Amino acid sequence: MRTNKFYGRDWLSPEIDYSKEEWESLLMLAEELKTRYATNEDTTAILRGKTLYTMFFNSSLRTRSTFAAGIQQLGGFHVDLEPGKTYTPARKGFEVPYKTERICDVARVLSRTGDAIAIRMYGAPAHWIYGFAHETMKEFAYYADIPVINMECDKYHPCQALADMLTIKEKFGQFRGLKFVISWAYSGSTAKPFAVPQSLALAPSLLGMDVVLARPRGFELDPEVTRKCHEYAMQNNASFEETDDMEAAFEKAHVVYPKSWGSLEYFAQLDKNGRKIRSENLEGMKDLFEKNKHWICDEKKMKLLDKNGIYMHCLPADRDMEVTDAVIDGPRSVIYDEAENRLHAQKAIMTLLMGGRL
Ligand code: CP
Repeated sequence: MRTNKFYGRDWLSPEIDYSKEEWESLLMLAEELKTRYATNEDTTAILRGKTLYTMFFNSSLRTRSTFAAGIQQLGGFHVDLEPGKTYTPARKGFEVPYKTERICDVARVLSRTGDAIAIRMYGAPAHWIYGFAHETMKEFAYYADIPVINMECDKYHPCQALADMLTIKEKFGQFRGLKFVISWAYSGSTAKPFAVPQSLALAPSLLGMDVVLARPRGFELDPEVTRKCHEYAMQNNASFEETDDMEAAFEKAHVVYPKSWGSLEYFAQLDKNGRKIRSENLEGMKDLFEKNKHWICDEKKMKLLDKNGIYMHCLPADRDMEVTDAVIDGPRSVIYDEAENRLHAQKAIMTLLMGGRL
Protein backbone atom coordinates (compact mmCIF):
# COMPACT_ATOMS: atom_id res chain seq x y z
CA MET A 1 0.00 0.00 0.00
CA ARG A 2 1.30 3.49 -0.82
CA THR A 3 0.27 5.94 1.85
CA ASN A 4 2.55 8.88 1.06
CA LYS A 5 0.33 10.24 -1.74
CA PHE A 6 -2.62 11.11 0.49
CA TYR A 7 -1.31 13.65 2.98
CA GLY A 8 -2.91 17.09 2.61
CA ARG A 9 -5.38 16.11 -0.12
CA ASP A 10 -9.07 17.00 -0.12
CA TRP A 11 -11.84 14.40 -0.06
CA LEU A 12 -14.52 16.14 -2.11
CA SER A 13 -15.33 13.83 -5.03
CA PRO A 14 -12.85 10.98 -4.61
CA GLU A 15 -15.04 8.70 -6.77
CA ILE A 16 -13.59 10.81 -9.59
CA ASP A 17 -10.36 12.30 -8.15
CA TYR A 18 -8.83 9.19 -6.53
CA SER A 19 -7.69 6.11 -8.45
CA LYS A 20 -8.95 2.55 -8.04
CA GLU A 21 -5.62 1.68 -6.35
CA GLU A 22 -6.07 4.55 -3.90
CA TRP A 23 -9.57 3.30 -2.99
CA GLU A 24 -8.10 -0.17 -2.50
CA SER A 25 -5.40 1.28 -0.21
CA LEU A 26 -8.02 3.08 1.86
CA LEU A 27 -10.06 -0.12 2.15
CA MET A 28 -7.00 -2.06 3.33
CA LEU A 29 -6.27 0.55 5.98
CA ALA A 30 -9.93 0.63 7.08
CA GLU A 31 -9.81 -3.15 7.53
CA GLU A 32 -6.61 -2.85 9.57
CA LEU A 33 -8.07 -0.11 11.78
CA LYS A 34 -11.23 -2.17 12.27
CA THR A 35 -9.15 -5.12 13.49
CA ARG A 36 -7.17 -2.87 15.82
CA TYR A 37 -10.45 -1.47 17.20
CA ALA A 38 -11.88 -4.99 17.68
CA THR A 39 -8.80 -6.04 19.64
CA ASN A 40 -8.88 -2.95 21.86
CA GLU A 41 -5.53 -1.74 20.58
CA ASP A 42 -4.55 1.79 21.56
CA THR A 43 -4.49 3.82 18.33
CA THR A 44 -4.33 7.25 19.94
CA ALA A 45 -0.80 7.93 18.71
CA ILE A 46 -1.94 7.97 15.08
CA LEU A 47 -3.42 11.50 15.03
CA ARG A 48 -2.38 12.70 18.49
CA GLY A 49 -2.80 16.44 18.86
CA LYS A 50 -4.61 16.91 15.53
CA THR A 51 -7.83 18.92 15.30
CA LEU A 52 -10.78 18.26 13.02
CA TYR A 53 -13.30 21.05 12.49
CA THR A 54 -16.80 19.88 11.54
CA MET A 55 -19.62 21.95 10.07
CA PHE A 56 -23.05 20.36 9.76
CA PHE A 57 -25.58 22.45 7.86
CA ASN A 58 -27.98 19.47 7.93
CA SER A 59 -28.98 16.83 10.48
CA SER A 60 -26.86 13.75 10.97
CA LEU A 61 -26.62 10.76 13.29
CA ARG A 62 -24.10 8.38 11.69
CA THR A 63 -21.71 10.91 10.16
CA ARG A 64 -21.66 13.13 13.22
CA SER A 65 -21.14 10.29 15.71
CA THR A 66 -18.54 8.38 13.69
CA PHE A 67 -16.37 11.40 12.88
CA ALA A 68 -16.45 12.46 16.52
CA ALA A 69 -15.67 8.95 17.80
CA GLY A 70 -13.14 8.28 15.05
CA ILE A 71 -10.91 11.30 15.60
CA GLN A 72 -10.97 10.65 19.34
CA GLN A 73 -9.96 7.01 18.89
CA LEU A 74 -7.03 8.21 16.77
CA GLY A 75 -5.88 10.60 19.51
CA GLY A 76 -7.18 13.78 17.93
CA PHE A 77 -9.89 16.22 18.86
CA HIS A 78 -12.94 17.52 17.08
CA VAL A 79 -14.58 20.95 17.31
CA ASP A 80 -18.12 21.24 15.97
CA LEU A 81 -18.59 24.70 14.44
CA GLU A 82 -22.34 24.74 14.67
CA PRO A 83 -23.95 27.05 12.09
CA GLY A 84 -25.81 29.73 14.01
CA LYS A 85 -23.15 29.79 16.71
CA THR A 86 -20.46 30.84 14.24
CA TYR A 87 -20.96 33.33 11.40
CA THR A 88 -22.38 31.25 8.57
CA PRO A 89 -19.68 30.75 5.92
CA ALA A 90 -20.98 32.26 2.69
CA ARG A 91 -19.93 32.38 -0.94
CA LYS A 92 -19.47 35.78 -2.51
CA GLY A 93 -22.90 37.06 -3.58
CA PHE A 94 -24.75 34.86 -1.10
CA GLU A 95 -23.96 36.74 2.11
CA VAL A 96 -26.59 37.99 4.55
CA PRO A 97 -25.07 41.11 6.13
CA TYR A 98 -23.87 40.69 9.75
CA LYS A 99 -24.74 36.98 9.90
CA THR A 100 -22.20 35.59 7.48
CA GLU A 101 -18.51 35.56 6.86
CA ARG A 102 -16.87 34.95 3.49
CA ILE A 103 -15.53 31.42 2.98
CA CYS A 104 -12.14 32.83 1.93
CA ASP A 105 -11.73 34.21 5.47
CA VAL A 106 -13.23 31.22 7.32
CA ALA A 107 -11.10 28.68 5.47
CA ARG A 108 -7.85 30.62 6.00
CA VAL A 109 -8.54 31.21 9.70
CA LEU A 110 -9.29 27.50 10.34
CA SER A 111 -6.17 26.51 8.38
CA ARG A 112 -4.02 28.39 10.92
CA THR A 113 -5.25 26.34 13.89
CA GLY A 114 -6.58 22.97 12.73
CA ASP A 115 -5.68 19.98 10.57
CA ALA A 116 -8.85 19.31 8.51
CA ILE A 117 -12.29 20.80 7.84
CA ALA A 118 -15.24 18.46 7.33
CA ILE A 119 -18.51 19.81 5.89
CA ARG A 120 -22.07 18.56 5.31
CA MET A 121 -24.36 20.67 3.17
CA TYR A 122 -27.28 20.08 0.77
CA GLY A 123 -30.92 21.10 0.26
CA ALA A 124 -32.24 24.28 1.90
CA PRO A 125 -28.84 25.50 3.23
CA ALA A 126 -27.63 25.22 -0.38
CA HIS A 127 -30.66 27.22 -1.65
CA TRP A 128 -32.01 24.05 -3.38
CA ILE A 129 -29.57 24.72 -6.21
CA TYR A 130 -28.09 21.48 -7.55
CA GLY A 131 -24.29 21.66 -7.20
CA PHE A 132 -24.27 24.72 -4.93
CA ALA A 133 -23.08 22.76 -1.89
CA HIS A 134 -20.36 21.01 -3.85
CA GLU A 135 -19.12 24.35 -5.20
CA THR A 136 -19.16 25.66 -1.63
CA MET A 137 -16.87 22.83 -0.54
CA LYS A 138 -14.60 23.47 -3.53
CA GLU A 139 -14.35 27.10 -2.48
CA PHE A 140 -13.34 26.00 1.03
CA ALA A 141 -10.74 23.70 -0.49
CA TYR A 142 -9.38 26.49 -2.70
CA TYR A 143 -8.67 28.76 0.28
CA ALA A 144 -7.82 26.16 2.94
CA ASP A 145 -4.26 24.88 3.42
CA ILE A 146 -5.60 21.78 5.17
CA PRO A 147 -7.75 18.94 3.76
CA VAL A 148 -11.46 19.57 3.24
CA ILE A 149 -13.60 16.47 3.74
CA ASN A 150 -17.03 16.09 2.13
CA MET A 151 -19.40 14.64 4.76
CA GLU A 152 -22.19 14.72 2.11
CA CYS A 153 -23.06 17.43 -0.36
CA ASP A 154 -25.71 17.65 -3.06
CA LYS A 155 -23.61 15.55 -5.48
CA TYR A 156 -21.53 13.05 -3.52
CA HIS A 157 -21.36 11.15 -0.23
CA PRO A 158 -17.90 9.59 -0.51
CA CYS A 159 -17.54 8.58 3.16
CA GLN A 160 -20.72 6.52 2.80
CA ALA A 161 -19.44 5.02 -0.44
CA LEU A 162 -16.11 3.95 1.11
CA ALA A 163 -17.90 2.36 4.09
CA ASP A 164 -20.28 0.54 1.74
CA MET A 165 -17.43 -0.78 -0.41
CA LEU A 166 -15.80 -2.05 2.78
CA THR A 167 -19.04 -3.84 3.70
CA ILE A 168 -19.27 -5.47 0.26
CA LYS A 169 -15.62 -6.55 0.46
CA GLU A 170 -16.31 -8.15 3.85
CA LYS A 171 -19.39 -9.99 2.56
CA PHE A 172 -18.07 -11.18 -0.81
CA GLY A 173 -14.26 -10.87 -0.59
CA GLN A 174 -14.04 -9.24 -4.02
CA PHE A 175 -15.76 -6.80 -6.39
CA ARG A 176 -15.26 -8.37 -9.79
CA GLY A 177 -18.24 -10.34 -11.09
CA LEU A 178 -20.73 -8.86 -8.61
CA LYS A 179 -23.98 -7.35 -9.86
CA PHE A 180 -24.64 -4.15 -7.89
CA VAL A 181 -28.03 -2.40 -8.24
CA ILE A 182 -28.51 1.19 -7.14
CA SER A 183 -32.24 1.74 -7.35
CA TRP A 184 -34.57 4.66 -6.77
CA ALA A 185 -37.28 3.98 -4.15
CA TYR A 186 -40.36 5.92 -3.12
CA SER A 187 -40.38 8.22 -0.09
CA GLY A 188 -42.96 10.62 1.32
CA SER A 189 -40.20 13.18 1.82
CA THR A 190 -39.01 14.48 -1.53
CA ALA A 191 -36.03 16.52 -2.67
CA LYS A 192 -33.41 14.21 -1.18
CA PRO A 193 -29.93 14.86 -2.52
CA PHE A 194 -28.21 12.88 -5.27
CA ALA A 195 -25.20 12.26 -3.06
CA VAL A 196 -25.80 8.61 -2.18
CA PRO A 197 -27.03 7.34 -5.56
CA GLN A 198 -24.28 9.17 -7.46
CA SER A 199 -21.50 7.97 -5.14
CA LEU A 200 -23.06 4.50 -5.12
CA ALA A 201 -23.09 4.41 -8.91
CA LEU A 202 -19.51 5.69 -9.24
CA ALA A 203 -17.65 3.78 -6.50
CA PRO A 204 -18.78 0.26 -7.46
CA SER A 205 -18.12 1.10 -11.14
CA LEU A 206 -14.62 2.33 -10.26
CA LEU A 207 -13.93 -0.88 -8.33
CA GLY A 208 -15.08 -3.10 -11.20
CA MET A 209 -18.57 -4.28 -10.30
CA ASP A 210 -21.33 -4.72 -12.90
CA VAL A 211 -23.58 -1.80 -12.00
CA VAL A 212 -27.27 -1.30 -12.82
CA LEU A 213 -28.97 2.03 -12.18
CA ALA A 214 -32.75 1.50 -11.83
CA ARG A 215 -35.01 4.56 -11.72
CA PRO A 216 -38.38 5.72 -13.00
CA ARG A 217 -38.39 8.33 -15.75
CA GLY A 218 -37.58 11.74 -14.31
CA PHE A 219 -35.11 10.38 -11.74
CA GLU A 220 -32.04 10.19 -13.95
CA LEU A 221 -28.70 11.06 -12.36
CA ASP A 222 -26.38 13.86 -13.43
CA PRO A 223 -25.25 12.91 -16.99
CA GLU A 224 -21.63 13.64 -16.00
CA VAL A 225 -21.91 10.89 -13.38
CA THR A 226 -23.38 8.27 -15.70
CA ARG A 227 -20.79 9.13 -18.37
CA LYS A 228 -18.04 8.48 -15.83
CA CYS A 229 -19.70 5.19 -14.81
CA HIS A 230 -19.65 4.03 -18.44
CA GLU A 231 -15.97 5.02 -18.65
CA TYR A 232 -15.11 2.99 -15.52
CA ALA A 233 -17.09 0.00 -16.82
CA MET A 234 -15.04 0.09 -20.05
CA GLN A 235 -11.75 0.32 -18.13
CA ASN A 236 -12.69 -2.61 -15.90
CA ASN A 237 -14.17 -4.76 -18.64
CA ALA A 238 -17.41 -4.64 -16.61
CA SER A 239 -20.83 -3.13 -17.34
CA PHE A 240 -22.97 -0.12 -16.47
CA GLU A 241 -26.65 -0.19 -17.46
CA GLU A 242 -29.74 1.94 -16.81
CA THR A 243 -33.31 0.69 -16.62
CA ASP A 244 -36.76 1.87 -15.53
CA ASP A 245 -37.71 -1.69 -14.44
CA MET A 246 -36.96 -2.34 -10.75
CA GLU A 247 -37.81 -6.06 -10.91
CA ALA A 248 -35.61 -6.68 -13.94
CA ALA A 249 -32.74 -4.87 -12.22
CA PHE A 250 -33.06 -7.09 -9.12
CA GLU A 251 -32.77 -10.34 -11.13
CA LYS A 252 -29.69 -12.28 -9.90
CA ALA A 253 -28.29 -9.20 -8.14
CA HIS A 254 -25.64 -9.69 -5.46
CA VAL A 255 -26.27 -6.27 -3.91
CA VAL A 256 -29.39 -4.10 -4.05
CA TYR A 257 -29.34 -0.55 -2.70
CA PRO A 258 -32.89 0.92 -3.02
CA LYS A 259 -32.91 4.56 -1.95
CA SER A 260 -34.95 7.67 -2.62
CA TRP A 261 -33.54 10.75 -4.35
CA GLY A 262 -34.96 13.86 -5.99
CA SER A 263 -35.59 14.84 -9.60
CA LEU A 264 -32.97 17.14 -11.12
CA GLU A 265 -35.41 19.14 -13.20
CA TYR A 266 -37.27 20.37 -10.10
CA PHE A 267 -34.19 21.81 -8.37
CA ALA A 268 -33.19 25.45 -8.71
CA GLN A 269 -30.51 26.32 -11.25
CA LEU A 270 -27.91 29.05 -11.74
CA ASP A 271 -26.47 30.18 -15.06
CA LYS A 272 -22.72 30.25 -15.58
CA ASN A 273 -22.55 33.77 -14.15
CA GLY A 274 -24.17 32.66 -10.89
CA ARG A 275 -27.59 34.21 -11.64
CA LYS A 276 -30.63 32.16 -10.66
CA ILE A 277 -32.46 31.14 -13.83
CA ARG A 278 -34.89 28.64 -12.28
CA SER A 279 -36.42 28.28 -8.80
CA GLU A 280 -37.00 24.96 -7.09
CA ASN A 281 -40.42 23.34 -7.49
CA LEU A 282 -40.77 20.98 -4.56
CA GLU A 283 -44.54 20.56 -5.01
CA GLY A 284 -44.04 19.53 -8.63
CA MET A 285 -41.45 17.02 -7.50
CA LYS A 286 -43.89 15.58 -4.96
CA ASP A 287 -46.41 14.84 -7.74
CA LEU A 288 -43.75 12.89 -9.62
CA PHE A 289 -42.95 10.91 -6.45
CA GLU A 290 -46.63 10.00 -5.89
CA LYS A 291 -46.80 8.41 -9.36
CA ASN A 292 -44.05 5.96 -8.37
CA LYS A 293 -45.20 4.59 -5.03
CA HIS A 294 -44.77 1.02 -6.25
CA TRP A 295 -40.98 1.49 -6.23
CA ILE A 296 -40.64 -0.21 -2.84
CA CYS A 297 -38.19 -2.94 -1.88
CA ASP A 298 -40.31 -5.82 -0.56
CA GLU A 299 -39.85 -9.55 0.02
CA LYS A 300 -41.27 -10.42 -3.41
CA LYS A 301 -38.60 -8.36 -5.15
CA MET A 302 -35.87 -9.69 -2.82
CA LYS A 303 -36.69 -13.24 -4.03
CA LEU A 304 -35.29 -12.21 -7.44
CA LEU A 305 -31.75 -11.75 -6.08
CA ASP A 306 -28.84 -14.17 -6.26
CA LYS A 307 -29.06 -16.71 -3.40
CA ASN A 308 -26.31 -14.79 -1.55
CA GLY A 309 -27.74 -11.36 -2.43
CA ILE A 310 -27.80 -8.62 0.21
CA TYR A 311 -29.88 -5.51 0.92
CA MET A 312 -28.06 -2.23 1.63
CA HIS A 313 -29.18 1.23 2.75
CA CYS A 314 -27.16 4.18 4.05
CA LEU A 315 -29.86 5.08 6.65
CA PRO A 316 -31.97 6.82 7.72
CA ALA A 317 -34.46 4.66 5.79
CA ASP A 318 -38.08 5.55 5.18
CA ARG A 319 -39.68 2.31 6.37
CA ASP A 320 -42.93 1.25 4.62
CA MET A 321 -42.05 3.59 1.76
CA GLU A 322 -38.54 2.79 0.48
CA VAL A 323 -38.52 -0.66 2.08
CA THR A 324 -40.70 -3.01 4.11
CA ASP A 325 -39.78 -3.96 7.69
CA ALA A 326 -39.51 -7.61 6.62
CA VAL A 327 -36.65 -6.73 4.24
CA ILE A 328 -34.76 -4.15 6.27
CA ASP A 329 -34.97 -6.31 9.42
CA GLY A 330 -34.51 -9.54 7.47
CA PRO A 331 -31.52 -11.89 7.12
CA ARG A 332 -30.18 -10.29 3.92
CA SER A 333 -30.02 -6.79 5.38
CA VAL A 334 -26.52 -5.47 6.22
CA ILE A 335 -27.54 -1.95 7.26
CA TYR A 336 -25.87 -1.97 10.67
CA ASP A 337 -22.61 -3.30 9.22
CA GLU A 338 -22.68 -0.34 6.84
CA ALA A 339 -23.32 2.10 9.68
CA GLU A 340 -20.49 0.59 11.74
CA ASN A 341 -18.12 0.71 8.80
CA ARG A 342 -18.57 4.47 8.57
CA LEU A 343 -16.31 4.64 11.63
CA HIS A 344 -13.51 2.52 10.20
CA ALA A 345 -13.69 4.03 6.70
CA GLN A 346 -13.49 7.58 8.06
CA LYS A 347 -10.63 6.69 10.39
CA ALA A 348 -8.72 5.50 7.31
CA ILE A 349 -9.53 8.74 5.45
CA MET A 350 -8.46 10.94 8.37
CA THR A 351 -5.31 8.90 9.00
CA LEU A 352 -4.05 9.25 5.46
CA LEU A 353 -5.19 12.81 4.70
CA MET A 354 -4.20 14.31 8.04
CA GLY A 355 -0.74 12.76 8.22
CA GLY A 356 -1.36 9.95 10.68
CA ARG A 357 1.60 8.01 12.11
CA LEU A 358 0.82 4.31 11.65
N1 CP B 1 -25.92 7.74 6.13
C1 CP B 1 -25.70 8.93 6.76
O1 CP B 1 -24.92 9.76 6.26
O2 CP B 1 -26.34 9.08 7.93
P1 CP B 1 -26.53 10.46 8.72
O3 CP B 1 -27.37 11.36 7.87
O4 CP B 1 -27.20 10.07 10.00
O5 CP B 1 -25.17 11.06 8.97
